Amino acid sequence: MERSAFAIVATVVMVMVMMRVEGSIIGYDARGLLFDKQPKLLFSGSIHYPRSTPEMWESLISNAKEGGLDVVQTYVFWNAHEPEEGKYNFEGNLDLLKFLNLVKEAGLYVNLRIGPFINAEWNFGGLPVWLYLQDNVGMRTNNTIFMKAMQDFTTKIVQMMKDQNMFSWQGGPIIMAQIENEFGAYKKDTSAYAYAMWAANMAIGLNTSVPWIMCKQPDAPDPVVNTHNGVTNGDIFQPNAPYKPKMWTELYTGWFQTYKKPKPFRPAANIAFEVARFFMSNGSFVNYYMYHGGTNFGRTGGGPFMATTYDYDAPIDEYGLLNQPKWGHLRALHQALKLCEATLINRTTSDLIALGRHQNALVLANGTENCAAFLSNLNARRGATVEFNGYTYNLPAQSISILPDCKTVAFNTAQVSTQTNTMQMVPAVSSSLETTVGKNFSSVLWNPSWNWYSEPIGVWGETYKTSECCLEQIRMTKDSTDYLWYITSIDITDNEDVGNATLHISSVAHAAHLYVNGHYAVTAAGDRDNPYVEIDQPLELKNGKNEIAILSMTVGLQSGVQPSHIQHVGIQGPVILNGLSGGALNLSSQFWTYQVGLQGEFLQLHTRNGSNNVDWSISSPPQNRSLIWYKTMFDAPASNSPLALDLETMGKGEAWVNGKSIGRYWPSCQASGERCSLGCGAREKRCYSGCGQSSQRWYHVPLAWIKPTGNLLVLLEEMGGDPMGITLVTRSLATICSSISEDYPAPLDSWQANSTLKLPELKLECDAGQQISSIVFASYGTPRGNCSKFRKGPCHAEITTKIVKQACVGRRTCTLQVTSSTFGNDPCPIQIKALAVIASCSWNPSLTR
Ligand SMILES: *[C@@H]1O[C@H](CO)[C@@H](O)[C@H](O)[C@H]1NC(C)=O
Ligand SMILES: *[C@@H]1O[C@H](CO)[C@@H](O)[C@H](O)[C@H]1NC(C)=O
Ligand SMILES: *[C@@H]1O[C@H](CO)[C@@H](O)[C@H](O)[C@H]1NC(C)=O
Ligand SMILES: *[C@@H]1O[C@H](CO)[C@@H](O)[C@H](O)[C@H]1NC(C)=O
Ligand SMILES: *[C@@H]1O[C@H](CO)[C@@H](O)[C@H](O)[C@H]1NC(C)=O
Ligand SMILES: *[C@@H]1O[C@H](CO)[C@@H](O)[C@H](O)[C@H]1NC(C)=O
Ligand SMILES: *[C@@H]1O[C@H](CO)[C@@H](O)[C@H](O)[C@H]1NC(C)=O
Ligand SMILES: *[C@@H]1O[C@H](CO)[C@@H](O)[C@H](O)[C@H]1NC(C)=O
Ligand SMILES: *[C@@H]1O[C@H](CO)[C@@H](O)[C@H](O)[C@H]1NC(C)=O
Ligand SMILES: *[C@@H]1O[C@H](CO)[C@@H](O)[C@H](O)[C@H]1NC(C)=O
Repeated sequence: MERSAFAIVATVVMVMVMMRVEGSIIGYDARGLLFDKQPKLLFSGSIHYPRSTPEMWESLISNAKEGGLDVVQTYVFWNAHEPEEGKYNFEGNLDLLKFLNLVKEAGLYVNLRIGPFINAEWNFGGLPVWLYLQDNVGMRTNNTIFMKAMQDFTTKIVQMMKDQNMFSWQGGPIIMAQIENEFGAYKKDTSAYAYAMWAANMAIGLNTSVPWIMCKQPDAPDPVVNTHNGVTNGDIFQPNAPYKPKMWTELYTGWFQTYKKPKPFRPAANIAFEVARFFMSNGSFVNYYMYHGGTNFGRTGGGPFMATTYDYDAPIDEYGLLNQPKWGHLRALHQALKLCEATLINRTTSDLIALGRHQNALVLANGTENCAAFLSNLNARRGATVEFNGYTYNLPAQSISILPDCKTVAFNTAQVSTQTNTMQMVPAVSSSLETTVGKNFSSVLWNPSWNWYSEPIGVWGETYKTSECCLEQIRMTKDSTDYLWYITSIDITDNEDVGNATLHISSVAHAAHLYVNGHYAVTAAGDRDNPYVEIDQPLELKNGKNEIAILSMTVGLQSGVQPSHIQHVGIQGPVILNGLSGGALNLSSQFWTYQVGLQGEFLQLHTRNGSNNVDWSISSPPQNRSLIWYKTMFDAPASNSPLALDLETMGKGEAWVNGKSIGRYWPSCQASGERCSLGCGAREKRCYSGCGQSSQRWYHVPLAWIKPTGNLLVLLEEMGGDPMGITLVTRSLATICSSISEDYPAPLDSWQANSTLKLPELKLECDAGQQISSIVFASYGTPRGNCSKFRKGPCHAEITTKIVKQACVGRRTCTLQVTSSTFGNDPCPIQIKALAVIASCSWNPSLTR
């Protein structure tokens, strides 16, 4: 007994020692990052830990691994970690070490982008506002105050990583680090250039013993590697020395959403095409920005005008669910490229063979053992049939086929065999009223009882200041709040006719609500292209004293902080009253009163304790009234699906659940109309949807923030809305769709080198707990359209729906071989046919949820 116990202890110690010793030494050469001198092809994805909750991290990371990633890339968020000078926060969703340890436990590597300037569409690009407000500071330039603060933070993070054995040579996950971010664009300024070179050398001096990168920094000094960021052009990018690897740090899987703009998206086929071209051209590391975008909780969204959602059309959606077909198509791409890894890395010959006017084959080989071929069709409009090595291959328009054995197609970038998921947001059902078929059920937050409190217009406390016009807002608020009141008054003599009075305010940023004598008059808001707007508003003045109060607000501070240009916010003036008999009255030359923030923020009405600080009205809540705080309680919904608040009936403001801010909301802001009609084929790099609709209607409520009963929901409504319309919704799979052609490559799980037998398959799968409930469309033949809408083509096997129903309905998943024998006989023997199916998923009543 004792002997064997001792043996076990000894083994454990051995394993631990081994792990320390087994840490990889990371270097690089032109072929890629070297792990103990061996190069690897690396697929990486950005997941930003503060944009989700720690409870979501494990699943996000395992979906990244399952999706074929080797590396997780994240920024380090300086202004979140150091909210006040010298006071640090690494708790909750800022627990960087916990996040990195989960990545390590999953067996993935980390690319740590320390910055500490990060942009990331994050508030002020991650830089602390307290630093910006110091005297004589210059951001991201040759300025000793900024450089010292930046060096201190970078050193602190590197030391924290060393202390926790986080670097690769220590057995940790970090294989690469980044200093600064996309700084090359400011190179012309000599002070900025001096700073960039200093930053590189400062980083090298920290002795991380892993390579440092600088993205979009063509003059990154040795040994720092300059890397590519962009939608395209990874293939033509070259690092600044022949001994540096070719790496793509930001390949955009979609794009960020801003208010007033439609929702951007990017087809999976377009991304796959760019990635394939990159690896064909000596690329060795690609990072998807973003792989999971997440949510800008609280006031972390930057911009200005970044929406609260940072979904990015990433392979994993804002809520942590798979964005299909993107996730699956990229996964299949990674598998196909990994099959070529030995050849790509050890290639000794590389031949480009013309196969047609716009078609070619790139054949890479390492002697006779390894051969991989990439067949490209660069014609963006038409598919092509090519002959290669004695075989015939069909290449769709703008696509690349990957042949890991120079013969068998493992993947084509345009042939998406992963199903397309359509998600739905359905009212959440209350857990306190269990659902049973035929029995009434109650939605969570549908017509609950609301309490409300009216925020004072103008001065509300002793903290106001009086001064000349017009003070800059960040200097007044120190970014502790979005809000700053600018207040002044005008005396109108008794005999003045005020019928034509109009107020002109120049340069309002980012947005403002105007109140005259306590009444709401108008809202003005800029957008990301131009944050500055003017107000010209007819005023209802009275004889005697009139109070003009302007609630000015930020909608996220500039995230692209440029050394020579930091946007000023607030009311800049001049403020002129026109239309009086005495001529224009210059209100900028008189005194103004400034009040930072709102009373409700000061009283912390969003917290349980703070909400006891005022008497809430219990009468029916006012609708469409400016500056109202609303609160209610709700119980958790029955399901464990991701949650969101549907705020379609609300104007603009901020919402809190159990004291935690789910972010700014602004559903009344509509996306401009023009870009969506352009359509979106596989060639398009950036497409848009949702024109003419709310820029953001749904706001993610993390499951981890909800208790079974008694959850406090508080909203601050600035403009006017109807809280009776607010619902809590769950996000789930509604329909699944797939279309597979007979000439598709075989599914990868059955791929074998030199195999000839390959029958394409159509595979459908609902979420766990769901089943396929009906077949909306099914056609084997020549169906037209895509997963947005299909119709039967001239060739169609009538029996398709019956066969598909038999195979799929009542099951969670089903697979059909795309061949005429599946459907009894061939409806049109000479043509290449396809099988297209749209099916509905619904919760399986026989499974408990
Ligand atoms: C950078 O700043 C240092 C110290 O303030 C100064 O000596 C040096 O000339 C500056 N370099 C450039 C290129 O501006
Ligand atoms: C890095 O290594 C050099 C040379 O060994 C040493 O002088 C320097 O102090 C080290 N710096 C840090 C931050 O460890
Ligand atoms: C890839 O690397 C090889 C060997 O260094 C070189 O001959 C070739 O031109 C490179 N191709 C591209 C597209 O950079
Ligand atoms: C590349 O070739 C070297 C030397 O023959 C070999 O050790 C290594 O395993 C090969 N790499 C891959 C990925 O096959
Ligand atoms: C395969 O690649 C490795 C590494 O580049 C090289 O040493 C070896 O000679 C190659 N084999 C042949 C047969 O070309
Ligand atoms: C208001 O403007 C109208 C049109 O310019 C003008 O006819 C009218 O006299 C003005 N009224 C006053 C009180 O200035
Ligand atoms: C209004 O007053 C401000 C402050 O005195 C001054 O800077 C500005 O030039 C004036 N504007 C006009 C149009 O008179
Ligand atoms: C809330 O108030 C109670 C009673 O005054 C106090 O004990 C508790 O610490 C407060 N909680 C917070 C988070 O302020
Ligand atoms: C809400 O109030 C604003 C300003 O008073 C008004 O313009 C708007 O039409 C109102 N909307 C609704 C839905 O009543
Ligand atoms: C799907 O078809 C519709 C209608 O033909 C078209 O507008 C849309 O761009 C297509 N979408 C994709 C992703 O091809």
